[in-house]
Amino acid sequence: MNRKPIIAGNWKMFKTRDEALYFILKVSNNVPAIKDVETVVCAQAPLMRCLVKRQGENLRIGAQNMHYADEGAFTGEISGALLQSYNVDYVILGHSERRKYFHETDEDVNLKLKAALKYEIKPIVCVGENLEERQSNLTFNVLDRQVKKAIEGLSEKEVKSIVIAYEPIWAIGTGKTATAQMADEACGYIRGLVKQVVSLEASQAIRIQYGGSVNPKNIDELLSMPHIDGALIGGASLDPDHFIYMTKAALARVQK
Ligand code: PGA
Repeated sequence: MNRKPIIAGNWKMFKTRDEALYFILKVSNNVPAIKDVETVVCAQAPLMRCLVKRQGENLRIGAQNMHYADEGAFTGEISGALLQSYNVDYVILGHSERRKYFHETDEDVNLKLKAALKYEIKPIVCVGENLEERQSNLTFNVLDRQVKKAIEGLSEKEVKSIVIAYEPIWAIGTGKTATAQMADEACGYIRGLVKQVVSLEASQAIRIQYGGSVNPKNIDELLSMPHIDGALIGGASLDPDHFIYMTKAALARVQK
């Protein structure tokens, strides 16, 4: 099964307008063709417009969160309809920072996932255990709960179209990457869950990224693993040269 790699940068709450412009002008024409690799940058919401306008043929723009309601009295939130009207193609959902600091639950993630699909925005759904859970051998229990709830009520076709990012919380922003074997084992486990609750075909089609301290030095090894179809990259995605390098690492995997 040939799954197209997807490299997504998660800028979190970094970059001003000028910094984002500098990045996009440098990167937009220097990433692999979209027929080979999907390349996405997920930025703060007010940057959407200036990024979408300059994204180039092969680079796509994503948001870092959205609300599940169509519209309403939800001060500070972002609607799927608004993102769609700006031609934003992707949205990160259920990032561990959203779960931790903004108290997002598995149920919220499920509702947001359905809303994103409704507005034809491709969701990148984050799951992963914290250090205590890893040390207590609860990693698979956490993945079981988060993945099953996230995709509850989705059709097989919808499940095939989403991206899941396995992001162990202890590896995010810490410089401690999971070993390629550990990351692949967890991504393989998630694929098995999709097979169990949806279908073999869905499990072969769905793309699963690894995220957590991915950088130009470790990306090749991570992408060489059978169940890892790309990366969700925080800190190292802020540097245009590092970002371009990592998209090219994904292209090298395709060409192997
Ligand atoms: P990091 O962040 O690459 O800086 O560890 C990854 C993420 O939070 O998506």
